[in-house]
Amino acid sequence: MNPRKIKDNVYWMGFIDWDSRLFDSLIPLPDGTSYNAYLIEGSEKTVLIDAVEDEFYYELEGQLKDVAKLDYVISLHAEQDHSGCIPQILARYPEAKLITSPKAKGILMDLLHIDEELFITVKDGETLSLGDKTLEFILTPWVHWPETMVAYLQEDKILFSCDFFGAHIATSDLFVTDEARVYEAAKRYYAEIMMSFRNVVKKNLEKISAYDIELIAPSHGQIYPKPSFILDAHKDWVSGQMKNKVVIPYISMHNSTKKMVDHFVAALVERGVKVEQFNLTVTDIGKLAIELVDAGTIVIGTPTILAGPHPDAVYAAYLANALRPGAKFLSIIGSYGWGGRTVEILAGLIPNLKVEVIDPVLVKGAPKADDFKALENLADTIAAKHKEEGLV
Ligand code: FEO
Repeated sequence: MNPRKIKDNVYWMGFIDWDSRLFDSLIPLPDGTSYNAYLIEGSEKTVLIDAVEDEFYYELEGQLKDVAKLDYVISLHAEQDHSGCIPQILARYPEAKLITSPKAKGILMDLLHIDEELFITVKDGETLSLGDKTLEFILTPWVHWPETMVAYLQEDKILFSCDFFGAHIATSDLFVTDEARVYEAAKRYYAEIMMSFRNVVKKNLEKISAYDIELIAPSHGQIYPKPSFILDAHKDWVSGQMKNKVVIPYISMHNSTKKMVDHFVAALVERGVKVEQFNLTVTDIGKLAIELVDAGTIVIGTPTILAGPHPDAVYAAYLANALRPGAKFLSIIGSYGWGGRTVEILAGLIPNLKVEVIDPVLVKGAPKADDFKALENLADTIAAKHKEEGLV
């Protein structure tokens, strides 16, 4: 892909990764992703904002073939998907300096062994003149590492936001054309890497609201020509307003837990509660993460195996604990054969969740009439609690 013009002397560069299906060896990428870098040619100075993974440098190297001089490389975020090939870029342009936040400097030295003398660190609000263009640096820690910052190109009103507002999408459309598609991808991205820091994300959203932004150019996915679309979505996600929705990650071995889940889901739906159920043997954990953004209640369904929860249920609980969704209630349902510590083990895995735990429904063997009644009672309790909390 050749460099693509965004505005006069502002270009997209980078790598569109159509093929990858897993990010950080963890996160599913159903639509691939992109690693966006941006070249700004001021009347006096030329800068490259962010870079790409080391393995994709060949593409960026080709895009830079007509750039004879680079004065600065700006690393908004030190994670290697944006910084991995910075050592090669600095080797290619030995006169270039590397601009980062103070925290990023140490991280980049640790990760990429970059010479300390090449760094220039910037403070919050500091500006860099490129001649006829001016970049302002805004420190935005914890979106999603402690060193993250964004850069605002004052004359063109472009916010370069790196991971902030990113979405894992590979597409040939440089600008957002399908907001519904981007909404889901951006919500998935937010859930996976930003949700656990939502209070600081909220503060950073407030911080950048002071700027007149015409374009948001993230380092994954497409450029937003209508920034309000993605800003409003993020404001909603960080609002803490949960919905009248139950998310049920579950697994079943011989269908007893499955029958419980099915009966429970029907009972919730009858009571006007929205449900998203995920069979953990086949589910895309990104879809589960999306639904955790605003679900009022989480109910984990698991059989007891080897005296505890199924390992896939352990994984779901651990993941939910790490993502720290804002759910208000949690319960557990499932079948066991003769005993075990399923509830204690799962409860011990979720210390980060500020939830009220509702009495679990555990059934010996296959569920009977009384067990189905207990599930209906659990559905009654959840529906009532959602109503008390004003969840809609
Ligand atoms: Fe896209 Fe946190 O790296």
